Amino acid sequence: MNTECFDIVIVGTGAAGLTVALELAEAKQTSTQQSKNKPTIALISKGPLNEGSTLYAQGGIAAVLDEDKDSIASHIQDTLNAGAGLCHEESVKFTIEHGKEAIQWAINKGVKFSREENVDDYHLTREGGHSHRRVIHAADATGKALSEGLLAQVKKTPNIKLFEHHMAVDLILSPHSSLQKKAKQCVGIYLLNTQTNQVTEVPAKFTILATGGASKVYLYTSNPDSSTGDGIAMAWRAGCRVANMEFNQFHPTCLYHPKAKSFLITEALRGEGAKLKLPDGTPFMHKFDERKELAPRDIVAQAIDFEMKRTGSDFVYLDITHKSSEFIKDHFPTIYKRCLTFGIDITCEPIPVVPAAHYTCGGIMTNLDGQTDIDNLYAIGETAFTGLHGANRMASNSLLECLVFGKAAADKIKTELQHNECEPLLPPWDDSRVTGSEEVVVVTHNWDELRRFMWNYVGIVRKNKRLLLAKQRIKLLQREIDDYYRQYLINSDLLELRNLATVAELIINSAMKRKESRGLHYTLDYPYKDDQKFLKDTILIPPNYKKK
Ligand code: FAD
Ligand code: SIN
Repeated sequence: MNTECFDIVIVGTGAAGLTVALELAEAKQTSTQQSKNKPTIALISKGPLNEGSTLYAQGGIAAVLDEDKDSIASHIQDTLNAGAGLCHEESVKFTIEHGKEAIQWAINKGVKFSREENVDDYHLTREGGHSHRRVIHAADATGKALSEGLLAQVKKTPNIKLFEHHMAVDLILSPHSSLQKKAKQCVGIYLLNTQTNQVTEVPAKFTILATGGASKVYLYTSNPDSSTGDGIAMAWRAGCRVANMEFNQFHPTCLYHPKAKSFLITEALRGEGAKLKLPDGTPFMHKFDERKELAPRDIVAQAIDFEMKRTGSDFVYLDITHKSSEFIKDHFPTIYKRCLTFGIDITCEPIPVVPAAHYTCGGIMTNLDGQTDIDNLYAIGETAFTGLHGANRMASNSLLECLVFGKAAADKIKTELQHNECEPLLPPWDDSRVTGSEEVVVVTHNWDELRRFMWNYVGIVRKNKRLLLAKQRIKLLQREIDDYYRQYLINSDLLELRNLATVAELIINSAMKRKESRGLHYTLDYPYKDDQKFLKDTILIPPNYKKK
């Protein structure tokens, strides 16, 4: 059964989804055929509205706010340096030049950032790869402030209809798309109500994927459970190209404690002078990079991994005790309190940390308006590949990308809204040939196996042999998952597993193609950069890809 037709369906309520929703909600429709002034928007989250990586972002948002103290050129150069030769310069320029405007937009929407003591200026912190203090933040809970601020606005906007606990299953393409000459066109999505397990078709003139990253494909991750790469997998199945999936970023410092699931220790601690040390207290970053603790993330994570393997230790320490107790509690209240619950007082003792999967630099290929290979389908935020991050994302450039591309996509859609019609009758979801399953263990077992071999074989340090093993494993798993998918009624766990398996395969295939080490892709078989052969993106083309 079709639901009403929406002008725009947005899948995802993180920084990217909220931004594009708010920007589009204001669009005026001038066509005389429109019975209403404002577009109708469906905004969807598979879990609670605020759940997603955005909520947990700590460090802040990078932007040049005062050109007397910093410069756009410097932010651009730092981003290009971190990206190890693969950033697309036009995307970097576009994002960074719109940085100040994006921050002002967030402030206007009610987001509260930390200020300097006794002065009116915003406090700016520093993170790895940045040559200036340029990270605006809300103490160490920037994502929470951003999510709360934008969600409050969304809830007050009548033409945005919220679908919480609804999961997008797949994109629906126009039946006309299959005709030889027509470009593929997205006409809506299949949506699973995760509380009733009913699937409905949702027709829409435009569909936007803002589904976040895929770091949950690894056993250890800083990400929430929602980061299962659903958007990337859906777009791939529909026929979109996906790029640079080998560059999954590992954040150097997540809390090491048996009970601390996915808790990040922000890079801003290192920005304020925190030192990385071996368990015996010896600093080591000077051996790996002259920028020491403030080298880009790929270098710091690889250094920690190297030292952990060399010394046989399960963790290293991050030590901020040189700062006063007041400073630490004021700047890092969330981390201070969370560590204290595990018996670690960070004002007077070092924090045990390990690297963990953190950010998906690759994703669905888009242009600077967020448009994908399929007409009327957009992708923004962490799920997208805009070329901004190259082989390694610089800290705090991600939220910036969500804001800037959220607005860019909205601007583009606004110009096209009145030319698009809804496809009235979409093919109904067919579950007539499947039954309920009593074999839930198949799903949980495969979730665990997949994440474990991705961590062990496709992690921070790679090897041909391990990648080959991973490829064999993923093929077997995919066969099992596909069989299961065809036989049983779907639920969110099965859908996420299926999407994770697709993303894992894309990561493995991309990593196998890159026979060099660059940025976040480090392989013992080819330990050096090879600019002659590999100064280019790894683009994967699905079998059903149709050139526009
Ligand atoms: P998300 O915020 O992850 O939101 C994804 C949304 O999509 C969610 O609403 C989810 O429910 C929904 N969704 C997913 N799949 C489906 C589906 N199938 N159906 C329906 N809904 C779906 N970046 C910075 O720039 N600065 C920082 O300080 C920073 N700190 C970070 C700290 C942590 C712990 C983490 C994990 C990340 C951090 N990052 C930071 C990265 C940054 O937070 C993310 O890249 C960014 O928030 C991604 O936003 P997004 O809107 O693309 O996705
Ligand atoms: C952090 O606060 O260290 C995370 C920043 C980021 O991922 O951009």
